[in-house]
Amino acid sequence: MGKVPALWSLCLLLNGFVWLFVMIGSEQPWQKAEAVHSEYYCPWQCLTFVQMWPGSFCVALATRFECVLPKNANSWTIHGLWPSDITACCRYWYLFPSDLTDLMPDLNWHWPSFINLSNFLFWEKEWHKHGTCGGCVETLNSPSKYFRAALDLRTKYNIDSAFQKARIVPSCNCSYQLSSFQAALQPTLGDQYELQYVTDIQERQILVQIKISLSANFSTGCIQSGSHDGSPYKPCQAQENIFYFPPNLENPRDPCP
Ligand SMILES: *[C@@H]1O[C@H](CO)[C@@H](O)[C@H](O)[C@H]1NC(C)=O
Ligand SMILES: *[C@@H]1O[C@H](CO)[C@@H](O)[C@H](O)[C@H]1NC(C)=O
Ligand SMILES: *[C@@H]1O[C@H](CO)[C@@H](O)[C@H](O)[C@H]1NC(C)=O
Repeated sequence: MGKVPALWSLCLLLNGFVWLFVMIGSEQPWQKAEAVHSEYYCPWQCLTFVQMWPGSFCVALATRFECVLPKNANSWTIHGLWPSDITACCRYWYLFPSDLTDLMPDLNWHWPSFINLSNFLFWEKEWHKHGTCGGCVETLNSPSKYFRAALDLRTKYNIDSAFQKARIVPSCNCSYQLSSFQAALQPTLGDQYELQYVTDIQERQILVQIKISLSANFSTGCIQSGSHDGSPYKPCQAQENIFYFPPNLENPRDPCP
């Protein structure tokens, strides 16, 4: 099984009742226990690395939140790094600002909150919901490794430069075919990724987020079944052109009226 990180082991202990019950309920308890245990040791196969476009984030933002776009909002930012099909693995594994001291300037720049929630509270939410589930692999087994990995992935899978190379620029009055985006992204992202859209009040399809499917070693191409329950973002449709709006700091909820 290799070396199990200490904090991850602690989580297994605290969450241990879950697989104890699976063991008791199975017909061949020890065989089953072995299977369940190794699955529990690292319960996911793919990671989803999610990047967000600030120009359209607030278009579908519920009115109960304030939209707070940073003044420098003109590049793709990180939404999160999500081990697939599992969340909230270890509620006792806390995130402290001191874990992120060295990374703070880069995180503030590339992983900002766009609502009236501090950047740190956003990172803390992502850490509890998703980061704690990464602890079973050596490269993600501490808060600083997890957040640094996300920053490195943003550099490696850089949407801004992929679009620039293909001359895809934000615009209010030009839209793009899905195939143009795909042609621009394919060299960097391969083919296991998803473009997502929101609709504005004029019913236009607007690019908002890109989800890249990665293996545990951070290479592209991990195959997972997409599930879209509850998300306001939907996979982009080829039948209609897609808009890529420039950020509008004065009117972020309706950037191109
Ligand atoms: C965010 O803004 C909304 C709307 O103005 C307000 O109701 C809410 O209390 C604010 N939340 C925080 C955490 O400041
Ligand atoms: C298209 O929009 C850009 C800004 O996004 C503006 O500079 C340009 O003048 C517009 N072109 C037309 C033909 O309206
Ligand atoms: C990364 O992991 C995938 C899936 O396990 C594997 O197919 C691939 O060869 C690995 N890539 C590298 C560079 O190790």
